[in-house]
Amino acid sequence: MKIVVTGSLGHISKPLTIDLIKKGHSVTVISSNPKKQKNIKALGASAAIGSIADVQFLATTFTGADAIYCMEPPVNFFDPNLNLIEYYNQLGNNYKQAILQSGVKRVIHLSSIGAHTDKNNGILIFHFNVENIFRNLPDNVAIVFLRPVGFYYNLLGFIPTIKTRGLIATNYNAKYKEPWVSPIDIAAVAAEEITKNFEGKKIRYVASDELTSDEIASILGKAISKPDLKWTAISDEQQLNNLVAAGMNSQSAKGLVEMNAARHTGELFEDYYRNRPVLGKIKLTDFANEFAECYHQK
Ligand SMILES: NC(=O)c1ccc[n+]([C@@H]2O[C@H](COP(=O)([O-])OP(=O)(O)OC[C@H]3O[C@@H](n4cnc5c(N)ncnc54)[C@H](OP(=O)(O)O)[C@@H]3O)[C@@H](O)[C@H]2O)c1
Repeated sequence: MKIVVTGSLGHISKPLTIDLIKKGHSVTVISSNPKKQKNIKALGASAAIGSIADVQFLATTFTGADAIYCMEPPVNFFDPNLNLIEYYNQLGNNYKQAILQSGVKRVIHLSSIGAHTDKNNGILIFHFNVENIFRNLPDNVAIVFLRPVGFYYNLLGFIPTIKTRGLIATNYNAKYKEPWVSPIDIAAVAAEEITKNFEGKKIRYVASDELTSDEIASILGKAISKPDLKWTAISDEQQLNNLVAAGMNSQSAKGLVEMNAARHTGELFEDYYRNRPVLGKIKLTDFANEFAECYHQK
């Protein structure tokens, strides 16, 4: 199959590309950085250098593909001029227009946990909006919406507080088992879905492990030789003040606090637990080694 992968050599797109090439597919990887061309070619893929903000570039690159993997890259939450909602709506509309223009009929769209609702999900509302833009594509465009849960790599954000205060402090503490995922497991699911014959529009949640916040603190603590590491919940207000004081854009800060508040109650995961997937192979204990390496480097 001829497959186009967006997301360059990112956390999901790189293992996805490697897997697809191993299975004999012809893969084109989109990157905005000409310097990545060499590394993309080294994997056995073709590089298409351009921006997903450019509809003509997308449409040309998608033309002739049997299937495409579409993702929206993360943004800089510290950009004071960022309007996250408008930015992602624009990207969603770019993809929609390019899919229509190119005539591609099979799409894997990387969405997220929280995309099932526009209520109390904070920044994740952008995934709800973008899913709906894709859902408006004609019936003959088959789409799988992948909804991964929180990525293990988010946990690296706790390293500075562990170093300065000896604890994890955020505005949630999951007493129930919260799902987490490795990008490697997401790539495996994306590779499986993209090469399948499917029709219509379907949703698939992706997760690797399910743990309480205390279990996470214990696993990460052991990995960094701090077996007493504790996970402490701070108030929403305190979290918001911390993020704003650190220079985060206020729309993004409010959105992150609201998202975490829905994790604290478990509301964010209600639809996940109704449509619970088989868990992937990479467990938090595997990621803990990478966490420890970063902890000791930083
Ligand atoms: N973190 C979580 O817990 C979580 C949970 C659920 C869903 N998600 C979603 O997962 C996605 C992130 O996936 P990931 O970690 O695989 O991404 P990633 O590793 O950050 O890779 C994204 C790549 O996209 C490329 N890119 C950026 N801007 C571009 C542009 N304008 N045009 C073309 N390419 C561009 C960049 O590579 P170049 O520099 O080479 O262009 C970048 O490395 C986001 O949509 C996020 O919302 C995250």
